[in-house]
Amino acid sequence: MQKKIAVLPGDGIGPEVTREAVKCMQSIAVRFNHQFQFDYGLIGAAAIDACGAPFPDETRRLCQKADAILFGAVGDPKYDNNPDATIRPEQGLLKMRKELGLFANVRPVKSYSSLYQSSPLKPEILKGIDLVVFRELTGGIYFGEKTRTKNNATDLCSYSVSEITRIAVLAFEAALRRNKKLTLVDKANVLETSRLWRETVQGLAPSYPSVQTNYMFVDNAAMQLIMNPRQFDVILTENMFGDILSDEASVLAGSLGMLPSASYGDGVSLFEPIHGSYPQAAGKNIANPLGAIFSAALLLESFGLFVESAFLTKAAEESMACGYVTSDMSPRSAVSTSKAGDWISDFVFSHRMETV
Ligand code: IPM
Ligand code: MN
Repeated sequence: MQKKIAVLPGDGIGPEVTREAVKCMQSIAVRFNHQFQFDYGLIGAAAIDACGAPFPDETRRLCQKADAILFGAVGDPKYDNNPDATIRPEQGLLKMRKELGLFANVRPVKSYSSLYQSSPLKPEILKGIDLVVFRELTGGIYFGEKTRTKNNATDLCSYSVSEITRIAVLAFEAALRRNKKLTLVDKANVLETSRLWRETVQGLAPSYPSVQTNYMFVDNAAMQLIMNPRQFDVILTENMFGDILSDEASVLAGSLGMLPSASYGDGVSLFEPIHGSYPQAAGKNIANPLGAIFSAALLLESFGLFVESAFLTKAAEESMACGYVTSDMSPRSAVSTSKAGDWISDFVFSHRMETV
């Protein structure tokens, strides 16, 4: 198979973790006789520094020509501490999501017994967690009209039925392939937009009779995720709630650093770890590459390369089982970012499929 992959390493630890994901995909290409072409583009602070814009047109064109996008992270403290900055790295990510029509962000969360000790929660709560968050990505309060005067600010939250329907359909279809349970998380006791979400999802539910559809307020959902996470299969929610709940859910997996995500929409799909740019760790070769590597596995799956994706996933899981992991997962016997990536890519080279 011949595929073009746009790689946008971005800022902070982004370049280090995407390097390991590319390394692993190159191993997959060699092992399975595929041709992957990696074309690099600028985004975030790296793009602002180079050409003054956080998502340059050139990067957009590169993405539109690609079969998939692998993205690292954006963000730089020099902008965080300056509320007056009008151009910010995060705008690059938001602009990219909007311009590429990436409306559905899918964040799977599983618990691994080898990582129970990395989570502050008890093993009996963590056992058997397998859920996925469907976060709406191009609407809501992130993209509504914003106003600002000296003493006042507003952010408008708005949703249309069609925006809700298109992601809800994807979430219901995922539930059909999984454990057939969908939970809409909203704040329908207070917010008008949430009432529209609930009404729309209630309208769709009868078309999926084998899926058990539940409704939960976001404050309760935040508590339930920690108290009884096994009750969840597919969580469907709007942009802001999904942002917050997916960071919370990462605690269940053991480390934010290992969680991947996929964003789907009108055209090309994008794959990225859910962690941010973690500037304190940038350049130190200590960041966890697993989020990026699991994202690469989701990318392979989007090409229909299911065996390759399962093989890469297995290799990454094996590295966790052997304790060959970075310091966020194993403070006592940590390996570096590049060593962790080497181990996984070597596993892909040197193991026979039948053994995995
Ligand atoms: C995420 C991030 C982004 C978001 C930031 C960097 C704009 O936190 O992908 O979850 O809020 O969507
Ligand atoms: Mn986030």
